[in-house]
Amino acid sequence: MQKNDVGKDRYRAMIEALAEGVLLVSRKHRIVLANKSAEEMLSWAAPLEGKDISAIFESASFSEALDSVFKEKRRRKLKLTSYHGFTGDDAIIRGKGREKHYKSCITSLDEKYAVITITDVTRIERLAIVRQDFVSNVSHELKTPLTAISGFSETLLDDGLSRDEIKGFARIIRKNSAHMQRIISDLLLLTSLDRSEIAPAMAVTTDTRILSEVRSYTQYKAETKDIEVEYESQGKSVLCNESLIVQAIINLVVNAISYSPEKTRVTVKARTRGSQMEFIVADHGSGIAEEDLSRIFERFYRVDKARSRESGGTGLGLSIVRHIAIIHDGTIKVESKLSEGSVFTLSIPLS
Ligand SMILES: Nc1ncnc2c1ncn2[C@@H]1O[C@H](COP(=O)(O)OP(=O)(O)O)[C@@H](O)[C@H]1O
Ligand SMILES: [Mg+2]
Repeated sequence: MQKNDVGKDRYRAMIEALAEGVLLVSRKHRIVLANKSAEEMLSWAAPLEGKDISAIFESASFSEALDSVFKEKRRRKLKLTSYHGFTGDDAIIRGKGREKHYKSCITSLDEKYAVITITDVTRIERLAIVRQDFVSNVSHELKTPLTAISGFSETLLDDGLSRDEIKGFARIIRKNSAHMQRIISDLLLLTSLDRSEIAPAMAVTTDTRILSEVRSYTQYKAETKDIEVEYESQGKSVLCNESLIVQAIINLVVNAISYSPEKTRVTVKARTRGSQMEFIVADHGSGIAEEDLSRIFERFYRVDKARSRESGGTGLGLSIVRHIAIIHDGTIKVESKLSEGSVFTLSIPLS
């Protein structure tokens, strides 16, 4: 089939179907044609046809780029950041999560017209920022215990220390290296959960088995604070990756113990609800303020850094729980009242 046989209407339909925004502009900077994606991306300026391009791309450098494309007949690529409307490739606007990022390419068609394509790269740009923040967080988290380890090992080399002093410093070193190990193993777990292309092995187990595993891992910690943990299950079957679900509930139980005063009560309940199995961990601890509730599942976010570190926390526990929930097509929810307590509900499909 000859190209021309396709017909004009199909060409137009093809341009309309593109996920990229496409604009046809005249030498005088007027928009002659705009496809559906362009109208959607730049909806605040719609309708686009007939408008001067400067009404959309405010920056002078964009107009210059367009002129140079006509003059030099070459292609220009630009990066654009917009906040309330476009402000150009060199705008440094940090509207923390609200700005949009676009990539744009201008190509001249002939003496009279040029084509501008626009791709929304907001998601990619945001991911890049998240990654940078993560790396700097990890470095910072590892630096704190490492500073203690190197400082106290230096002190250990001093002459004339008593046996008790030596033991005291060695204990601090041990505590801090254990903390580093916890951070690293949490990070490794998170990374392996992130690689979503490898689906974890699922098998049928029961809620009773899961909770008895959780108990064996958390019993000791509960005893050190004289906290009684009450378990309740129904012996129901559930399809899941047992060791991951056990890990998630351990994280919730450890938090319940860590952020509760001594001699209080924690309950861990498994129950079915419709096609879901719910694991509910409730405590009578410090509770979480409204403004922190939405952030506690973020990596390294803690309400009280010192308290978290003191109890051996890495700031990654809940983020691991959230990942494990997602992998199981499940959810994690929290209800909490300051100084009354918290209830975390992990919910996964039964099969
Ligand atoms: N049961 C709870 N009661 C009160 N605060 C909690 C509870 N669980 C979590 N939090 C808060 O959420 C933060 C994040 O939890 P997590 O991701 O497990 O990190 P970590 O416990 O290592 O600090 C904790 O530092 C704490 O401030
Ligand atoms: Mg924790």
